[in-house]
Amino acid sequence: MNVPITNPFRIGLRQERVIPPQCLVIFGASGDLTHRKLIPALFELFKQRRLPSEFAVLGCARRAWTDNDFRQKMSIALADKVKEDPQAWEQFSSLLFYESVDLQNRETISKLSIRLEEIDRLCATHGNRTFYLSVSPKFYGSGCQAIAEAGLLNDPKRSRVVIEKPFGRDFSSAQSLNRLVQHYGQENQIFRIDHYLGKETVQNILVLRFANAIFEPIWNRNYISSVQITASETVGVEERAGYYETSGALRDMVQNHLTQMLAITAMEPPGHFDPEAIRNEKAKVLQAARLANELEPWKCCIRGQYGKGGTKNFPLLGYREEPGVNPNSTTETYVAMKLFIENWRWQGVPFYIRTGKRLAKRISEVVLTFREAPVHLFDSAGGTPTSNQLILRIQPDEGATFRFDVKSPGSGMRSRPVEMEFSYDESFGEPSDEGYVRLLADAMLNDTTLFTRSDEVEAAWRLYTPLLELIEDSPWQLPIYPYESRTWGPAEADNLLAKDNLLWRRP
Ligand code: BG6
Repeated sequence: MNVPITNPFRIGLRQERVIPPQCLVIFGASGDLTHRKLIPALFELFKQRRLPSEFAVLGCARRAWTDNDFRQKMSIALADKVKEDPQAWEQFSSLLFYESVDLQNRETISKLSIRLEEIDRLCATHGNRTFYLSVSPKFYGSGCQAIAEAGLLNDPKRSRVVIEKPFGRDFSSAQSLNRLVQHYGQENQIFRIDHYLGKETVQNILVLRFANAIFEPIWNRNYISSVQITASETVGVEERAGYYETSGALRDMVQNHLTQMLAITAMEPPGHFDPEAIRNEKAKVLQAARLANELEPWKCCIRGQYGKGGTKNFPLLGYREEPGVNPNSTTETYVAMKLFIENWRWQGVPFYIRTGKRLAKRISEVVLTFREAPVHLFDSAGGTPTSNQLILRIQPDEGATFRFDVKSPGSGMRSRPVEMEFSYDESFGEPSDEGYVRLLADAMLNDTTLFTRSDEVEAAWRLYTPLLELIEDSPWQLPIYPYESRTWGPAEADNLLAKDNLLWRRP
């Protein structure tokens, strides 16, 4: 009899999910991310009673705010959540403190050290600190340096730094930034955050693949004919033109979020469920990934930019008319491309990925299309035979669908596709936590599993280097195709698949 192997790490992980006493230090506390994502996530953890009682948040920014100013600003920004549970907010907000700090100024950094010691005494946080760099990416390196030079990263067990995306702008800048941050801290003190990895449904890909015996044997080139990964948004650039103009969809979404979904979908099973085993496999698969045509990248990548759209009553501006956007901007708001993974599991299977703003629907999903039955015994009710598909819905409407053929009712023997559904909502009845809730908790638990390691980040940049170089050196070879707002992107992206006799899924 085959006895399943029990993983010793599994038990360990379950028992160690209690966040230890600590102070979370947020640099960039006056910025958007702090009140939009970080404080709401911490408040959620507080309400779920997952924060220790010896806990504090120290907001840091250049503005000369007091603790009270910070508490007030946060309660205004989170007004709806405060209204839902004013008592919990009152208790939680007493854990918020503020110190005016300029990461470029040594004097204010030494004041920070003193303040942290005070907080340790007041809140019993035991010198255990998580530093969150929610600042402009140009300060990631110098920020780590300032924290380290103040002696605040000396103890690798009780100090860590969380770094927001984007981590670098290309392969060489990411490599330099890695060298710099690794000079000031150990790799396991560096938490490069990608909020897609905090999504329950992205983690579920791991469970679906590795907790069920039926999927792994068919999860390869013998059974899967193609994979599509989509992250489409209905929103435009909103108030972020300043950042987006220097980034574009390739750097904003593809290099990080879509590539992480690709890695989790395509990686080999790890030997253990421990951070390094998982990250080794993710790094390996990214190192094996290639653009479908590295020498002529324009043949496997389409860039687009949204134009006007909407209705008479709700007109939508085109990207170039958005406030803060250059009227001649050549920044892409849409990317579609074809990749291959050159290993035994995936050789020859195309991976198509696409993302865009102002598309027809907000949806993130991974679609695995299986090979057709080798012999078609039955006529298909729809005319053409269909392939089985497994659709992993990352958001919204989180869940999964398996599409397969059954007998169409009636006297003949015709086949017809039907769908088998799993919905998070129906099965578990409660919405899953925001990605930041999970990731902040994991960082404070010193668990790096869902954070990107230096080699993964570099492999992801290396993968897109031929495209980035082309955009830099001869952008005319990778033209920007306009598309109407609230459509599925430029027709050229459809042609990319049509050449392979395929269609993008239109969910
Ligand atoms: C961010 C990007 O990382 O992810 C945004 O900078 C994008 O441009 C957002 O809108 C999408 O995240 P989500 O979780 O809404 O899919």
